[in-house]
Amino acid sequence: MRVTIFGTGYVGLVTGTCLADVGHDVVCVDIDQAKVDGLNRGVIPIYEPGLEPMVKANHAAGRLTFTTDAPSAIAHGDIIFIAVGTPPDEDGSADLKYVLAVARTIGGHLERGVVVVNKSTVPVGTADKVRQTIAGELAARGVDVAFDVVSNPEFLKEGDAVNDCMRPDRIIVGASSQQAIDRLKRLYAPFNRNHERIVVMDVRSAELTKYAANAMLATKISFMNEIANIAERVGADVEMVRQGIGSDPRIGWHFIYPGAGYGGSCFPKDVQALARTSQQHGYRAELLGAVESVNERQKGHLFELIERHYGGSIAGRTFAVWGLAFKPNTDDMREASSRRLLQQLWDAGARVRAYDPEATEEAQRIFGEREDLVLCDSARAALADADALVVVTEWKQFRSPDFQRLRQSLTDAVIFDGRNLYHPDEVEAAGLAYYGIGRGR
Ligand code: UGA
Repeated sequence: MRVTIFGTGYVGLVTGTCLADVGHDVVCVDIDQAKVDGLNRGVIPIYEPGLEPMVKANHAAGRLTFTTDAPSAIAHGDIIFIAVGTPPDEDGSADLKYVLAVARTIGGHLERGVVVVNKSTVPVGTADKVRQTIAGELAARGVDVAFDVVSNPEFLKEGDAVNDCMRPDRIIVGASSQQAIDRLKRLYAPFNRNHERIVVMDVRSAELTKYAANAMLATKISFMNEIANIAERVGADVEMVRQGIGSDPRIGWHFIYPGAGYGGSCFPKDVQALARTSQQHGYRAELLGAVESVNERQKGHLFELIERHYGGSIAGRTFAVWGLAFKPNTDDMREASSRRLLQQLWDAGARVRAYDPEATEEAQRIFGEREDLVLCDSARAALADADALVVVTEWKQFRSPDFQRLRQSLTDAVIFDGRNLYHPDEVEAAGLAYYGIGRGR
């Protein structure tokens, strides 16, 4: 099928590439000329395992092209995706300016019947706004073409996005016309083998499904962080508690890892936006507010542990920080817990030597040159002249360090483990002091 995708950010690029990979003819549109030129030369603007070779292969096969020419891209697609960003505006609601700008462009150039698909995470009711915007533009041009607007939210995880896209556990299709449903079923048929993954529903339920999924996952994390904070105070180990509750299939093993708080471009933004939507409809979502405030507090927890260990005297010390990205396998530092920690350390007069396998350039861009930050090119280099080690992101390569060597490198022989990667006994046996999250025993 012929597919057009507006937006070559995370969602648009991965979706477009996967659709091309199963044989669809995909044109991706972006307003950023430099990005489009780069993509046409095989330069991928994000780090995502497996994506680069797929983009190159499908581009070379002619099934995946990138352009800034919106009118010709609109003429190309039988299905037109909107996959542009919805950044939070000042009060936490999702800002629809990019989504509606694309809707205006579509309405301004559409000449034949299409299905418009909202892939961006958008508040309930956005499909209606997109429909009205397109209809308004068509009316202004005196053009009469039939079109549908469908909600088809995305469930990609950064770092595993290609896999999530190629092997989705569900495909949500929120639509009001059978013709649109049939077209999306044809589009997704290659991803829907073996068992039925497509869940068809009304448009508003599909829009809410996306927020409900992310809010539920964020709730699990904040819940565990709360239990961790209680464990710390009552002399229990949250890692034992986690193992004790995860085996109950009603609770499950996933997303119950306590840590330094959740970050990224989705959970913080979506929890806030859902709370805002419910407020706009006259309902105060108490649980969502608590999920967010627990997370905000959690992001400061590593620093509290550090302060406690040093009795508040942090000025002049040097901290090795392992991990800057908001999670492993990405270079993304949006809302990353590391950012709060670094700021708190700097405010307290400390210096930081940081290492992240992928996010060094991003950190450079965010923090610029400053004399209290050295971005190192290896985990070991970050330890040089450091008093203590703080682990913020659970990259695989941080999982089993040589604790003896760590003890020798660190002036103060102490580890603050923000992701509970290590066993306290093993660290302490090597002669290091250990602080984890929720490990009060
Ligand atoms: C999240 C969802 O997992 C995806 O399903 C969704 O499609 C995506 O948002 C989106 O809306 O686009 P993502 O933000 O890429 O994906 O990252 P996650 O793997 O969900 O991790 C989010 C944060 O939660 C990370 O900071 C991670 O460290 C933290 N986390 C995760 C925990 O602290 N504990 C856990 O048990 C799991």
